[in-house]
Amino acid sequence: MAGKVISFAVKRQLELRILSDQDWHNLGPAETLKDPALRELTIERTAIALSYKDGRFGAISNVCNHVGGPLGRGMIDGDYVKCPWHNYKFHRVTGFGEPGFEDDRVPQYELKIEGGNLYVNLRPVTQRNKLPHPPHPLSRAVKREEGPIRVVGISTTAMDQKNPRYSTSDKLLETALEHARNLGAQTLLIKLNDLKFRNCEGYYSKAARACTWPCSITQMDKTDELDRVYEALVHWGDVIMVATPIRWGAASSLYYKMAERMNCVQNQITIGDKALIQNKVASFIITGGQDNVQDVAGHMLGFFSELGFVFPPFPYIAHTRGWSAEDMENNIAFVETSSDLQEGAKDLARRSVETAQLVLGGKLSKERIVHPGRKAQPIHFKS
Ligand code: FES
Repeated sequence: MAGKVISFAVKRQLELRILSDQDWHNLGPAETLKDPALRELTIERTAIALSYKDGRFGAISNVCNHVGGPLGRGMIDGDYVKCPWHNYKFHRVTGFGEPGFEDDRVPQYELKIEGGNLYVNLRPVTQRNKLPHPPHPLSRAVKREEGPIRVVGISTTAMDQKNPRYSTSDKLLETALEHARNLGAQTLLIKLNDLKFRNCEGYYSKAARACTWPCSITQMDKTDELDRVYEALVHWGDVIMVATPIRWGAASSLYYKMAERMNCVQNQITIGDKALIQNKVASFIITGGQDNVQDVAGHMLGFFSELGFVFPPFPYIAHTRGWSAEDMENNIAFVETSSDLQEGAKDLARRSVETAQLVLGGKLSKERIVHPGRKAQPIHFKS
């Protein structure tokens, strides 16, 4: 009878074998899984990036270490899978990061072929390991430092830097900032024309969560200089005064280039219910040779309200010479000598500074804003 008694050790081995068998999943005929060379598969609740190259299959987690991009929707780059969101790379078989970043790895899954079918073992061979990355300075908590009201002027007009021309919108912006200083505010002038920054490259169009804060470009490209605008808008400034010329009935091209890159600020509301801009004031200076002031102002008001800004009474000043005017050389002389426009710019600065004082001193609720923005409801992601 003793021979029929199964020892504890053998029983445990059998149990482990059964458990291990349960971890293997048949993915189907291996031949059919070779093309495309990279795909994502979800088995039960495990998402894997399955690849095939040079006669060998590889299976790693489908979830990128960075912010969760779907690796199986990326591309094969040598022996690596390149994430479709921000191009991080992981070895397609081992899950290790690129040379120099091997320890930043995603789980690897074992594969075998039996009877012509490809099997994957959902018990990972290696565990995920994220290397700590130093946080970008912009990602720090938004907290207003003590001090006087701070006014940021943003010039959006484009011009030849070596041979600058007179800009009516810049002129009125400088007048406004000077008046803000006279009121005791600190000021900072940023000319977009002086900054080298890339166009928004549509990370949001890949996936809402691919558009990160700070901006994906800012995090990846140290030469991109829009970080100065983010720093001023999100962290430093209490008042943002944006000046734009009218170009064919719209704000300037540099304005839109900046606005597109601001999607990462608004997107924090979409994906994280997090308003980076609170208790800040925006106002606008709009000048042009011909009409369409209200359309340009309407866009700017709508856009900056989506970011979280509030507005002073009568939040913009504007000037055009009208639909039929083409004598722009006279426009320069007009703006330069117009005391009405100078006074208007000064009073816009006053209204903006005083509104900031009200907002900050009036102690608006510090509680979390509930579903801010146009959606006013939780956002659901379907993966
Ligand atoms: S590189 Fe993969 S999510 Fe950013």
